[in-house]
Amino acid sequence: MMLKDKVVVITGGAGLLGRAFCHAVAENGGVAIVAELDQRRGEEVASQLNAKGLAGRAVFAHIDINNHASIGRVIKSLSRRFGTIDALVNNAYPRNKRYGRKFEDVALADFTENVALHLGGYFLATQQFIKFFRKQGHGNIINMASVYGMIAPRFQIYRGTQITMPVEYAVLKAGILQLTKYLSKYLRGSNIRVNAISPGGVRDRQPVSFLKAYSEFCLSKGMLDNEDVCGALLFLLSDLSKFVNGHALVVDDGFSL
Ligand SMILES: NC(=O)c1ccc[n+]([C@@H]2O[C@H](COP(=O)([O-])OP(=O)(O)OC[C@H]3O[C@@H](n4cnc5c(N)ncnc54)[C@H](O)[C@@H]3O)[C@@H](O)[C@H]2O)c1
Repeated sequence: MMLKDKVVVITGGAGLLGRAFCHAVAENGGVAIVAELDQRRGEEVASQLNAKGLAGRAVFAHIDINNHASIGRVIKSLSRRFGTIDALVNNAYPRNKRYGRKFEDVALADFTENVALHLGGYFLATQQFIKFFRKQGHGNIINMASVYGMIAPRFQIYRGTQITMPVEYAVLKAGILQLTKYLSKYLRGSNIRVNAISPGGVRDRQPVSFLKAYSEFCLSKGMLDNEDVCGALLFLLSDLSKFVNGHALVVDDGFSL
């Protein structure tokens, strides 16, 4: 029971990584707060976990990380219900409808909107949780970054597919890594830790040609499954990483080497 009774808020909790994270938290003795914009999918994840013999270990909370009042409501209702919130996992993936275009096709308005939605959303949620964590005297924040916040894109692996590495993503993930370092230092002496996870790509019905090109950069498995990132999350949430702070844990089967 690595996370015995720890209350962990996972934004984007119904997404590809989020649902695996909620599962891992609940299975390891924590209470997973499936904090989601998509109410139907969020409730589904929570009820699936509760039905799996993990009753009371998963709770849905409707949240929009781009809305100040919505974040405040979640903090208030969880703190009333549980008396504590132990951790925030910034894992939501907001983007607008025109996200994912090639560099030349990205309008400035879309560039700024997507950076504001994602990096700005992580900032907004973090800012409000920190205020709460300071009051309760402890806290733990884990930011989902990416290897593409660290290295230049490997554009060649996208050849012949509709997929690209959006410029906004590279820029905002680099921003999230720097935000992580900034806050860990800013929060010196507050008993609040801030770390990041930088995963490589996660398998999600990508074309076979892409998976093959991707795996040529890897050391054993190639593109990972969502459960493969959970160990890093559990470590950073647990007291095993008590003195790990301002760190970005890379989970990518060597892709970024
Ligand atoms: N999937 C990958 O290959 C991969 C690799 C590296 C890093 N990451 C990062 O991991 C995180 C999760 O990625 P994913 O692939 O699971 O994404 P996903 O798109 O599968 O899930 C994201 C979830 O966020 C929710 N969401 C969107 N806007 C929201 C908002 N404003 N407020 C609350 N929730 C909102 C969506 O409804 C969705 O359920 C992201 O930060 C992503 O950049 C993903």
